[in-house]
Amino acid sequence: MDKTQFAILVVDDEADIREVLEIALTDIGHRVFSAPDGKTALDLFEKQHPAIVITDIKMPVMDGIELLKQVKRQSPDTQVIMITGHGDMDLTIASLKFGAADFITKPVNVDILELAVVKAADRLIAQQKLAEYTRKLEMLVLEKTKLTSHLSSLGLMIGTVSHNIKGLLTNLDGGLYLARSGLRRNSPSDTADGLDMLSRAVEKIKQMIMDILMYAKERPTDIQPVPAKKFLADIEETMAVKVSRHAINFQVRSDQAPDSLYLDAASMMSALVNILDNAVDACLEDKDKKRHHICLTIGQKETSLVMEIQDDGCGMDVETKAKIFDLFFSSKQVKGTGFGLFIARNIISQHQGTIAVESVKRRGTTFTILLPLKQ
Ligand SMILES: Nc1ncnc2c1ncn2[C@@H]1O[C@H](COP(=O)(O)OP(=O)(O)O)[C@@H](O)[C@H]1O
Ligand SMILES: [Mg+2]
Repeated sequence: MDKTQFAILVVDDEADIREVLEIALTDIGHRVFSAPDGKTALDLFEKQHPAIVITDIKMPVMDGIELLKQVKRQSPDTQVIMITGHGDMDLTIASLKFGAADFITKPVNVDILELAVVKAADRLIAQQKLAEYTRKLEMLVLEKTKLTSHLSSLGLMIGTVSHNIKGLLTNLDGGLYLARSGLRRNSPSDTADGLDMLSRAVEKIKQMIMDILMYAKERPTDIQPVPAKKFLADIEETMAVKVSRHAINFQVRSDQAPDSLYLDAASMMSALVNILDNAVDACLEDKDKKRHHICLTIGQKETSLVMEIQDDGCGMDVETKAKIFDLFFSSKQVKGTGFGLFIARNIISQHQGTIAVESVKRRGTTFTILLPLKQ
């Protein structure tokens, strides 16, 4: 016999029968409540949520069938055992229809009562096991779905990265060849060109590896107050190197900036540099203008820190604009990985921020980032 204890509600209009049932069930270790009619029973049921209800089929106020219906509607798993008398055949059949678990006949035999309770208890335990099993199964299915999607993005990543590395290897080979032949033929300009090609390829590889590391690592965001001056000076320094070889002006406007920024400085820096790198690429792509301008403006509006990155580069069409935040989307063939904006947006949303973009083809692009001013 199962030793699990249950809360049992006993319902009968005859006090004697209630008492016999209560004593018998308490003796075998269950917690028992009792009620003289269906209506009282229902109130008690709502308060105590017993797992088993044992009810007389014929009672004043609300009969056993009505009680059975209401209990099953509220709690389909509850086991309802009906107590039937002679000549209750129609009612017995009706209670079968409404999901009664079992029947015991009057006068109640205690052994039969115990047996009915044990059977009900077994069903309850089986139901619990089934529910647990279903929950585990659902979790497994969810894990499998997640794993499959991780695997497929991993596959996509390996493909993209290998493709990019292959392109960059060609550049490295070319640079090496040029530098070597420059040295052999004593041509400083060929040597310098070769070295330039090498250093650009190395720079690209570095950026790609940094992006992959940023993508692979799930580092918790560590938001701290950071002096705006220091943060912006770091960006200016990084960007100065990137634009030095080109006809691009890079400017930071920070007169409206707060003194402290609440950021994870390292990750926000990498988000901004990714956006600024794209701005540089867009300026180089645009052959219409001789000189280009990139501007980072930082200010505040209501409770938000507003950062705007504006370029007058090649801009983009509506179809491109719709895809730029997708992982692996790039319009740059070998030169792009499609990591940058995906990572940037993740970092910004880890800061409870948003990023939006406005762009006009051949005119330029503006990214607007909103972050909470304070955390
Ligand atoms: N400032 C910009 N001007 C024009 N196009 C841009 C700009 N920033 C991003 N894009 C577009 O968004 C795409 C995705 O950018 P990103 O995720 O950084 O990948 P990647 O730079 O490796 O191509 C770019 O390939 C480009 O088409
Ligand atoms: Mg990029």
